Amino acid sequence: MKPQDIDWNNLSFGYTRTPVNVRCYWRDGQWGPIEEHTEETVTMHMAATAFHYGQTAFEGLKAFRCKDGKVRIFRMDENARRMQSSASYLQMAVPSVELFCEMVAKVVTDNKDYIPAYETGGSLYIRPVIVGSGPQLGVKPADETLLLMFVSPVGPYYSGGMKGISAIIDRTHDRAAPFGTGHTKAGGNYGASLTSALEGHEKGYDSVLYLDPAHHRYIDECGAANFFGIRVDGNGKAHYVTPDSHSILPSITNKSLKQIAADFGMEVEARHVELEELNTFSEAGCCGTAAVITPVSTIFDPADGKTYDFGQGVGPWTQKLYDELVGIQHGETEDRHGWNTVL
Ligand code: PLP
Ligand code: COI
Repeated sequence: MKPQDIDWNNLSFGYTRTPVNVRCYWRDGQWGPIEEHTEETVTMHMAATAFHYGQTAFEGLKAFRCKDGKVRIFRMDENARRMQSSASYLQMAVPSVELFCEMVAKVVTDNKDYIPAYETGGSLYIRPVIVGSGPQLGVKPADETLLLMFVSPVGPYYSGGMKGISAIIDRTHDRAAPFGTGHTKAGGNYGASLTSALEGHEKGYDSVLYLDPAHHRYIDECGAANFFGIRVDGNGKAHYVTPDSHSILPSITNKSLKQIAADFGMEVEARHVELEELNTFSEAGCCGTAAVITPVSTIFDPADGKTYDFGQGVGPWTQKLYDELVGIQHGETEDRHGWNTVL
């Protein structure tokens, strides 16, 4: 699609074709050159392990066009390291942080006309994908790996934005096993979440809240985003409380919010969070690259018919965290932790 044909003020979180994607193959024990491609298709062996044995993982990160005219990419080294962890767990070749970051910078630069203007509130979503591209018949790792990155201009993941979303606790499906792949961005985790998300939507909820798969006692994640709650204690001190477990994806947005919350003087608690603790939160939200920070208004538990209600709209602490995060991403608040790459 040509830039002039894009409805820049009404972007949703969807795929828009852009001119260039970048690819790099690992063959014969080494990574080859970074290739720039214009076609959207990939030719792959029909016995590639990506198709049969789930050797596939991905990442998601964003580049922002800022008021000062510069382009900023948020924490790409963190995405590189998380992709290393996913690739390593799924027995694929592990790209270096340098290779990953060079590819990100190239794909953003090559598609710079597709980075939404600051005023639109949109961003350029970067989607790195790594797959076992070599053939195998037995259940074995591929001897060839493809690392591919494309981009798409995007708007909000939840169209309701800061109004707040509704979630239903899923008590019949888990997205990941207790000692499985939940801590990685394995494609299989998302395949495993599709039925759950669809059933949640059919029941009228925006998202699904997953519980820890071993006990169904602690909170894990909220759809494709981490969960947090705000508790203000008897002394007026605010606590940023967020679940931590092996089956949760270590969110880079959440990692950033934990730092920002600490900078604000909030108490940061990353630990198992009992479902009943929802009663103690004055605000709740979910966070991720796509979701940014989205307030959670209600959580329905079908086990006892109870609805936890955090109010419509955005609470004061959630708004403060949002403003700071988005301010740093757009170069309007000092990047005191060195999170941005400026192009
Ligand atoms: N949890 C899941 C399951 C996700 O898919 C994502 C999205 O990447 C997140 C959490 C948020 O992670 P991040 O903030 O790194 O985008
Ligand atoms: C992201 O926030 O980057 C995600 O991966 C979420 C989703 C669109 C899969």
